[in-house]
Amino acid sequence: MKSGKPSRTVFVCQGCGYNAPKWMGKCPECGEWDSLVEERQSPTLLPGGATPAKQSRPVPIHTVEMDQQRRIKSGMQEFDRVLGGGLVPGSLILVGGDPGIGKSTLMLQILHRLADSKHQVLYISGEESLEQIKLRSDRLGVSSEDLWVVSEVDLESIRAVANEMVPNAMVVDSIQTVFTRELASAPGSVSQVREATLHLMHLAKQTGIPIFLVGHVTKDGAIAGPRLLEHMVDTVLYFEGEQNNIFRILRAVKNRFGSTNEIGVFEMRDSGLCEVANPSAIFLSKRPSLVPGSVVTASIEGSRPILLELQALVARAGFGTPRRTVLGVDYNRVSLLVAVMEKKLGLQLMNQDIFVNVTGGVKVDEPAVDLGIVSAIASSFFDKPVKGATVVLGEIGLTGEIRSIGQADPRVHEARKMGFTRCLLPQDNLKGLKGPVDIEAVGVQTISELADLLF
Ligand code: TYD
Ligand code: MG
Repeated sequence: MKSGKPSRTVFVCQGCGYNAPKWMGKCPECGEWDSLVEERQSPTLLPGGATPAKQSRPVPIHTVEMDQQRRIKSGMQEFDRVLGGGLVPGSLILVGGDPGIGKSTLMLQILHRLADSKHQVLYISGEESLEQIKLRSDRLGVSSEDLWVVSEVDLESIRAVANEMVPNAMVVDSIQTVFTRELASAPGSVSQVREATLHLMHLAKQTGIPIFLVGHVTKDGAIAGPRLLEHMVDTVLYFEGEQNNIFRILRAVKNRFGSTNEIGVFEMRDSGLCEVANPSAIFLSKRPSLVPGSVVTASIEGSRPILLELQALVARAGFGTPRRTVLGVDYNRVSLLVAVMEKKLGLQLMNQDIFVNVTGGVKVDEPAVDLGIVSAIASSFFDKPVKGATVVLGEIGLTGEIRSIGQADPRVHEARKMGFTRCLLPQDNLKGLKGPVDIEAVGVQTISELADLLF
């Protein structure tokens, strides 16, 4: 392949980086199907061209000046905290979430807050007309003359508008609608989204404008295909929640300017999003407390710990083979755990129907939830609730031993953050826990100790 023609595009495998001049259904290098995506061959189209406009020079690290004070605060505390104490000038922040979860609402509210404190802000929408944005603003009961809006999807126009106005902050809603005419592929395709993000990153760094990119999450939880945007931007925030639930969680998955342990909790009301000061109480209130068969565990989803409620129902079977119905966890895993419970705890489960469910329609496939499943089944079998605000973690081996799990720290911290006061976890993980842990961590070695600790 000859290089040098800036308009040339190649098809690059998103799995292994193999490139081909034509699209192929299967990557000949790594064998991945449907992984080839059209991309620009050379990054020479970045403003400034291939040669840097100004030569960067190394400097001794102690001479580098910090300007922490320059963080811009939105005044919405839950939001500022997730960002690590406010907006850093020149940062590129990706706000991801399911469609309809409230990303546009959140962004508009944040911009209004900024505009209220005399910051010039710009909202660029590729999804809604100006009238729709105005309608939403009216609904939120906010209006400010320092908030500027434009309906635009063309990357070049967006850059021109931003360069002309140089706002104190700006939002591009959403990155999937932005397109550049340099590429033939449709808006929302991997190459378009990547190209647009690259240019907006450049814009943010060059002008010092903090830029929010709103990104829709695809079904498998990734933002616009492979997690390609996550490593390009400075900060990745996920806005999560269920459509039929009023609570929303804003979570930093990556943050170059702060910790990723913070979450912000909001409530979606008729008049927009309100901050929730005490999230743990809410999480607990959603769950039936002190009910037999309900256990909370923590699973790592991607890079994030998520607390899940496991429910089990054990009921006397009628005639024939007892039923085993399992939703959200592996059927074979549950069969194996039931066998271990029969053998090691001496429970008579062969004449019982067993149903196991992960609430909220979540699927977990990691062994760290084993102990949670066993606890839920035992709790329902004995008809005894698990005491206190307890989170249960651990993998179970065939001899009934509790095996250590990976990433115990983030799980325990998530539990603490969500208001749990006690955590059962493998003995081996106990010594590895990093402080400060203001949660009672109880080590478990074998499944036979479980009953005493749970009830
Ligand atoms: P929206 O911000 O448009 O979602 P996204 O940008 O993530 O796709 O939010 C849409 C939902 O929020 C919609 O179902 C209505 C609801 N909503 C409220 O409940 N109250 C409000 O004040 C607003 C503006 C929206
Ligand atoms: Mg929207």
